[in-house]
Amino acid sequence: MKMMMLSLLLLSPFNLFAEDPSAKLVPLKKELMKNLQGKLKTEGPVKALEFCHLNAQKITAANQQGIEIGRTSHRLRNAKNAPRDWVKPYLSEFVSGKRKEAIAVTLKNGKRGYLEPIRISKGACLICHGNSLSKPLQSELKKRYPQDQATGFKMNDFRGLFWMEY
Ligand code: HEC
Repeated sequence: MKMMMLSLLLLSPFNLFAEDPSAKLVPLKKELMKNLQGKLKTEGPVKALEFCHLNAQKITAANQQGIEIGRTSHRLRNAKNAPRDWVKPYLSEFVSGKRKEAIAVTLKNGKRGYLEPIRISKGACLICHGNSLSKPLQSELKKRYPQDQATGFKMNDFRGLFWMEY
C-alpha cells in the first residue's frame, strides 16, 4: 500500500518534491489583473488599454526575478509577445485543441520551459478582445496597435500562453 502511494506521488505531473512551476507565475498574474481591474473600474476601457500599452511590457520585465517569463499568442496584439521557437509547436497544439493543460519540458539549452494556457475567462476580457468593441476603443486600438490581431474572441476561447524559461 505504501509503495503504491509513493509511486502515485512520483507519477503526478509535478511531483511533490519539485516546486510547482506555476507558482512562479503568480506575482505577474496578480499584478496584471490588479492593474487591469483597477483601471477598468476607475478610468474605463480606453484608459485601461492605454495603461496596458504603456505598462504591460514593463510589468512583465519587472517580474523576471532570475527566470524569463512572458505572454504570447497565436493572435498577437503586441508583436513583442511573439512566441520563442521552442514555444511555437506547443502553441499550435493548444490552438488545435490537441493540448489543453499546462506543460513543463526540458529545452535544448538545458533549461526548463513551462507553458500555461490563458483563456478568455472573464466577461471583462471581451471589452478589449471580443467581437464588438466600442467605437472609442476601436480607434484607440488602431492608434496604439495598428497590427492588432487579438479581437473576435469569445468566452472560454484559448487566448494564448504564459511562458517561462528557468
Ligand atoms: C482594457 C483592455 C484590455 C482588457 C480588458 C484585456 N486586455 Fe489583454 N491585452 C490588452 C493590451 C493593450 C495588450 C497588449 C499589451 C502589450 O503591449 O504587451 C493585451 C495583451 C494580452 C495578451 C498577450 C498576448 C498579445 O496578444 O500580445 C494576452 C494573453 C491577453 N491580453 C489576455 C487577456 C485576458 C485573458 C483578458 C481578461 C482577463 C484580457 N486580456 C483583458 C488589452 C486588454
